[in-house]
Amino acid sequence: ILPPDNVRQDPNAMTSTQVPADDKGLMTTGAGNPVTNNQTSQTAGYYGPVLLQDFHLIDKTARFDRERIPERVVHAKGAGAHGYFEVTKDISHLTCAKFLSQVGKRTPVFTRFSVVAGERGTPDTTRDVRGFSVKFYTEEGNWDMVGNNTPIFFIRDPVKFPDFIHTQKRHPQTHLPDPTMVWDFWSLVPESLHQVTILMSDRGIPDGYRHMHGYSSHALKLVKADGAYVYVKWHFRTEQGIKNVLPEDAARLAGTDPNYATRDLFSAIEKGDHPAWRAYVQIITPEQALKYRFNPFDVTKVVSQKDFPLHEVGRLVLNRNPENYFAEVEQAAFCPSHMVPGIAPSPDRMLQGRLFSYADTHRHRLGPNYHQIPINRPISGVNNQQRDGAMAINGNGGSAPNYEPNSFGGPSQTNVVAHTHAKNVIARGEVARHTYEVTDDDFAQVRDLYNLFSNEQKDRLASVIAFTLSQTPVFIQTRQLKHFYRADKDYGRRVEAALKAAGSKI
Ligand code: HEM
Repeated sequence: ILPPDNVRQDPNAMTSTQVPADDKGLMTTGAGNPVTNNQTSQTAGYYGPVLLQDFHLIDKTARFDRERIPERVVHAKGAGAHGYFEVTKDISHLTCAKFLSQVGKRTPVFTRFSVVAGERGTPDTTRDVRGFSVKFYTEEGNWDMVGNNTPIFFIRDPVKFPDFIHTQKRHPQTHLPDPTMVWDFWSLVPESLHQVTILMSDRGIPDGYRHMHGYSSHALKLVKADGAYVYVKWHFRTEQGIKNVLPEDAARLAGTDPNYATRDLFSAIEKGDHPAWRAYVQIITPEQALKYRFNPFDVTKVVSQKDFPLHEVGRLVLNRNPENYFAEVEQAAFCPSHMVPGIAPSPDRMLQGRLFSYADTHRHRLGPNYHQIPINRPISGVNNQQRDGAMAINGNGGSAPNYEPNSFGGPSQTNVVAHTHAKNVIARGEVARHTYEVTDDDFAQVRDLYNLFSNEQKDRLASVIAFTLSQTPVFIQTRQLKHFYRADKDYGRRVEAALKAAGSKI
């Protein structure tokens, strides 16, 4: 990894490609045949055409032609690292998950941090939400905690997700990011204002990936062996301290060091400065969930830490860089439905939508056998009758029966009660499209958040908002302005003034 000329490189951060190569043996083709010459193609005479019989040339070119795989439809740009999770406080009274069974127990993890909207080459200092994914390789298979650096989200129904993401990507005609699409959607979906306020505030540009918290955002269940459960929201709090980048510095870095966060993570780990996060849960019983003053499964809202304080669970430490970016980071497949016994989904509608979407996209992005790719392979093994498909590379079950039940052996089901539905007091009622009305409740937390900011931060927030909002048609500005006023009069006034200062005809 070579930095741009104007970026100082940490002399201690030597990557493996910069380590002098030792003799690794003779070069071969993909079929293992020795390559006699990797400098010159075979031709018919000095001026003659290149020959089809030069298999090495054809093989090398054709292989190169197929190097790119589809990028992630969201969170395309990211960086990853290996490490471990260690239990620091006993929560075995809440869950039968074996990796959480005793204090001091360590589980290997792989994490990936990302920027949501941009493509694989987008600058790391873009104003955007950051992804925070952790794959726990437990003895009961993988648990993927696929969260963000914000405790909430823009929308609360999965049916809106494709539309929302379209507005964050490029305009279908101009191929440019488009403030009108963005604010048109947000102004028509006012429950987004809480997350929009975080995004437009100083928290919208974290200083690299080490200086931000991570959240499951949704409630998940922790389940005991007898089926009793509680809901928990996971918080991973950075031990490096929160740091953000101001807009001027972010813009400069986007030009001079667009891989700022990727470099920062890699360099820190390479020189032994291992980033760590303390993991906590907020615990909500099903009875408390039913009685709470708003729906605790609405991911546009935080559940107050005064009502549900943080309980420490463990510590996440990242201590090893990937050896190969593509093999480990690009091919990593995180999925909220990869869960171990003792962890289960809540009825959060967004989470429910995600339970389908990720494995679906992995089958498209990496192929149906994506579980067999080493970075995704559970250390506990895989034992079932699923067979064949593109790139089945693990022996494909050999001669064992590929159906079940059968009379000749093979794996069988555990018959352990399906925890997800045991004693469920929440999910009952009529099947219908139960709408979420937008109420004053949707603005109360925006007001609280806004009033945490200093005078200077409020001004900066208003001018960041006005910069893009002023580029949209006046009817969108007017519609959105009402939401700021509804959240807080002062918020509305400052945005209105900033819009006018930015030349708006509002
Ligand atoms: C990535 C779908 C909401 C966090 C992705 C990907 C898809 C997706 C298709 C690409 C996965 C891949 O190619 O491997 C959805 C849908 C959502 C939703 C349908 C809502 C209905 C959320 C929310 C969060 C989140 C609420 C955080 C709480 C992430 C993260 C990644 C990701 C961190 C990157 C995973 C990685 O590092 O590989 N999402 N998403 N998503 N999503 Fe979501």
